[in-house]
Amino acid sequence: MRKRMSQILTLRRPDDWHLHLRDGAMLRAVLPETTRHFARAIVMPNLVPPVVTAQDAAAYRARIMAAMPEGAEFTPLMTLYLTENTDPEDVAAAHASGLVTAVKLYPAGATTNSASGVRDFDKVRAVLEKMAEIGLPLCVHGEVTDPSVDIFDREAVFIDRVLDPVRRATPGLRVVMEHITTANGVDYVRAHDRDLGATITTHHLVINRNHILVGGIKPHYYCLPVAKREEHRLALRAAATSGDARFFLGTDSAPHIDPLKESACGCAGCFTATNTMSILAHVFEEEGALAQLEAFTSLNGPAFYGLPANETTLTLTKGDPVTYPQKIDTADGPVTVFDPGFPLDWHAT
Ligand code: DOR
Ligand code: ZN
Repeated sequence: MRKRMSQILTLRRPDDWHLHLRDGAMLRAVLPETTRHFARAIVMPNLVPPVVTAQDAAAYRARIMAAMPEGAEFTPLMTLYLTENTDPEDVAAAHASGLVTAVKLYPAGATTNSASGVRDFDKVRAVLEKMAEIGLPLCVHGEVTDPSVDIFDREAVFIDRVLDPVRRATPGLRVVMEHITTANGVDYVRAHDRDLGATITTHHLVINRNHILVGGIKPHYYCLPVAKREEHRLALRAAATSGDARFFLGTDSAPHIDPLKESACGCAGCFTATNTMSILAHVFEEEGALAQLEAFTSLNGPAFYGLPANETTLTLTKGDPVTYPQKIDTADGPVTVFDPGFPLDWHAT
């Protein structure tokens, strides 16, 4: 990172290692929000129907490219949605051709559009073994779906019941624990030197569970995994700002139109693509760690995925508060931009 003056930071251009772009009108509306600041993103496959085969991923990639704003320089990194019927050879061919960068594991029923996910891990054993053999990373939504497990404990229980056994059974499998929300997740990553990384979202560095529930329910702060106690938020902040190469940015920016969020049964997801870099600069400055911001947003992720860091740059300038739109308009309806609850003084250009 080159630090020109105290209030200007120039970073290698960031990447988003976990992003929901959706499809159709929503894709067209939210894609510019990401391409404005980011060079690449791992694109989640939980469409309806999901992106399951190499053919699905190629078609989705073409739709993203067709929606690209004029002049944008952005590379979508495609993923496949792991099902109990996924064919190891289809996955291997998709990887060999450069079409896919990772495979996504959703435990069935864990979150939005996860019904086709995995129930019986024995049924995906051959795919996981093939992935270990060819070095294709598995991105994991790490929550158990057992109804008897409290929603605030689902990540910690997943690590013990599912993640650790799967990793032990599949030596060499490279795993990204997606959107970790607990000190348990941070500790598990720190305890393992090889083949393990974790993404951390912007919003989980900002909110704890009080933000969702105190003083009235705040549907725009509801996401999965749900934000936990303050001690967990602080553990995530410590991990993100530590410079430890195993932790990197995955915003999990997940747009839903307002009527689906502000509802008696509201969808999970925080939409942070628009203001993420300003929020992160604020958070890292608060932690006295601006010098580690580039590692988190621009260096650690490419290193884990074996890709070069971007040569282009993003400049963050501190000044008068930046005004971001409160909502993004889409042809399907408005999408509310995540409100960090503090003024944003860092402007990204
Ligand atoms: O909050 C979330 N929203 N968590 C997920 O895992 C899925 C995502 C979505 O697709 O809306
Ligand atoms: Zn997600």
